[in-house]
Amino acid sequence: MIKYLGSKRTLVPVLAEIAGLSGATTALDMFTGTTRVAGAFKDQGIVTGANDVATYAKVLADCYIATDARTVDFRELREIIKDLAATPPAPGYFTETFCVESRFFQPKNGARIDAIRDRIEHEFANHPLRPVLLTSLMEAADRVDSTTGQQMAYLKSWAPRAYHDLELRTPELLDGTGWTWNADANRLARDLAKPDAPQFDLVYLDPPYNQHRYFTNYHIWETLIRWDKPESYGVAQKRIDARDPETHSAYNRRREMPLALADLVNTVPCETLVLSYNNESWVAFEELFDLVAARFPSATALAFDSKRYVGAQIGVYNPEGRRVSQPTHLRNLEYVFVGGAPETVTKIRKAFAEHHRDTAALAATVNPAPARTFG
Ligand SMILES: C[S@@+](CC[C@H](N)C(=O)[O-])C[C@H]1O[C@@H](n2cnc3c(N)ncnc32)[C@H](O)[C@@H]1O
Repeated sequence: MIKYLGSKRTLVPVLAEIAGLSGATTALDMFTGTTRVAGAFKDQGIVTGANDVATYAKVLADCYIATDARTVDFRELREIIKDLAATPPAPGYFTETFCVESRFFQPKNGARIDAIRDRIEHEFANHPLRPVLLTSLMEAADRVDSTTGQQMAYLKSWAPRAYHDLELRTPELLDGTGWTWNADANRLARDLAKPDAPQFDLVYLDPPYNQHRYFTNYHIWETLIRWDKPESYGVAQKRIDARDPETHSAYNRRREMPLALADLVNTVPCETLVLSYNNESWVAFEELFDLVAARFPSATALAFDSKRYVGAQIGVYNPEGRRVSQPTHLRNLEYVFVGGAPETVTKIRKAFAEHHRDTAALAATVNPAPARTFG
């Protein structure tokens, strides 16, 4: 899995447990990012959908959610990956932009990424394994990058992993099929209300919670997947279309975000809604709770401590190596709001009260607004 801001690595078991307790047989991860959460749903036999506006996230979802491991010829896949890995290096756009004009990767790896990506473009454009091959390449590149986990800046000195050679691995595919979309969440919510649209028992929402845009934070993955070789600008060589309004998300705008989220919570068809949110968010805990509680007959809130992403712990450096921002507080809370039928919500609340006492206590002591639970 790629390094990803706001990735729900630590919350995955919690979210999988909630899905299991809810009895959902179908679930949608509306802001899927790495697809970690959708994968955990799929892994427990739930027919899963995954959506994200990012092109790279759609490819990850096509690989991990839509691709059914049972239909894949793994011998063929391994042979293709081995053959791609042996492609002679050929420096091109990627090397020039991300290894020469900026220093996200070492040129030796950039030249291999260029050569392999070109071959996927020309030889596997319509191949069912295309998303799997692109995922293999993206994850290989992620393992040799020189960042703190986001692509607004690269490190002053090379990260030790950047010296390693790019190594393509076979992604760990899951059994079962799924749905994937590359759509704005609010638009998809409306489309899912139409007759003949797939139905989801449970919908999980994990929207961005501040002004940091994924389109610019992960612009290299966007470019690697689109392979459109855009004009780039600035120290980080961001895509020029990062300036276009259509690449902005309402969820990164302070004034629009609460309205977009309220609209989404109110319109997305489901029996159980799960919303995770961070205490650094623009919307207060109480407002979020009330939003979920207003739509569903019953609602509960759980809070979990989680370490902030590593970039915040060491501060941000400019290309001259000067620290340009200080780390802020290093601990934050992840909230998980659940709305649904009273019996479902009670079951979830009781299970967490019995099995996760430490996190419940933490929520009450760390957060000034203690987690409220309404059965
Ligand atoms: C907090 S991250 C999700 C992380 C994910 N749960 C994981 O574990 O990897 C938020 C995601 O929302 C996506 N996003 C931003 N605005 C969106 C929108 N309007 N509709 C759909 N997805 C959006 C971003 O591309 C990003 O991947």
